[in-house]
Amino acid sequence: MYFSIDRHIQKDNHICRVSDEMEVDISLSPRVNSLTPSKTVAITDQATALVQAGVPVILLTSGKPDFDTPASIAEAGINAIREGYTRYTPNAGTLELRMAICHKLKVEYGISCTPDQILVSNGTKQCILQAVLAVCSPGDEMSYPEMARLADATPVILPTHRAANYLLDPKLLESKLSQKSRLLILCSPSNPTRCVYHSKLLEEIAEIVARHPRLLVLSDEIYEHIIYAPAAHTSFASLPGMCNRTLTVNGFSKTFAMTGWRLGYLAGPKHFVAACGKIQRFGYAGGEVVSAMVKAFREKRDFLVESFGELWDVKYLEPLGAHYLFLDLSSYYGSNVDGFGVINGSESMCRYLLDKAHGLAILVLEFLDVAVWVLDDFTL
Ligand SMILES: Cc1ncc(COP(=O)(O)O)c(C=O)c1O
Repeated sequence: MYFSIDRHIQKDNHICRVSDEMEVDISLSPRVNSLTPSKTVAITDQATALVQAGVPVILLTSGKPDFDTPASIAEAGINAIREGYTRYTPNAGTLELRMAICHKLKVEYGISCTPDQILVSNGTKQCILQAVLAVCSPGDEMSYPEMARLADATPVILPTHRAANYLLDPKLLESKLSQKSRLLILCSPSNPTRCVYHSKLLEEIAEIVARHPRLLVLSDEIYEHIIYAPAAHTSFASLPGMCNRTLTVNGFSKTFAMTGWRLGYLAGPKHFVAACGKIQRFGYAGGEVVSAMVKAFREKRDFLVESFGELWDVKYLEPLGAHYLFLDLSSYYGSNVDGFGVINGSESMCRYLLDKAHGLAILVLEFLDVAVWVLDDFTL
């Protein structure tokens, strides 16, 4: 039954009238109320409204590779459906898939694990949230603000800078760690900063982690294969002593252009994987093509890097991995633009570009005060 909500909402007790005969309490849990509205969603809504109004805006707001899922994968999926693989699978994912993931981790990074150390979920995002909920206690510190709030943990952000290639400074990390530090989130290759952590820096970080027994690392490696040589990917769990301290999350969305398939996985110590599996039980169901895509991404990257090179006041570093170009447009902040007003940060920069520079599209990210353009879906 559909209820249209009457406008007379009583603010104090949150009761509102829906239809003539029924009232509903529309109050939300404090946990949800503590989440801040997403600027990205607001900008996306504005851009979507422009698209619907016929304005030629290119939407770059989500990290979608602009490729179709490779035909061999699509056909295997269709065949599987035809063959009746349409029923519930075990909560952790099918044994065959978990064994295949173990094999991949062994072959690519020398990481040994068993299928009970793998949990397959509806995308990497779900893996991250479950990991945060499974390991963080109230007051613990970790670095994704909204997820921290959902887990009653405290967000701690470690800023990075263009001059240091947007890489985490181990000294800064060490200075911020305490008994409360529970989860260090690393993302390499990184969305959005496009940086790739080299093995020496990861080894330094691993040494710090080893000195803090409570600290775990959540290593988001979803862009492991979208990387531009000579940059190379190191899986954090493959570093000495880190296998027992690392929750590796990964997924099929980017490397195999499978964003809509919702498939990701967590690999880690059995105890933590089992804890994530408990959450999953209650909440959720459970070569060559790639190198051609990476080659195409690289061509787009080179084109954009060269094009933006002509704009002296737009600063950025050449992407080493992932499909993002991370632009620092702060030299425009403070500009007073006729018919728009003052551009005072990344969000208003995006709004300005949406309002006044139709045909361009942008994504703003909240956590750094720099505007970001995203390469994927980039067509000229
Ligand atoms: C770093 C990173 N991790 C995870 C995700 C989400 O992946 P999935 O589609 O598997 O949920 C994204 C998507 O943009 C991402 O950039």
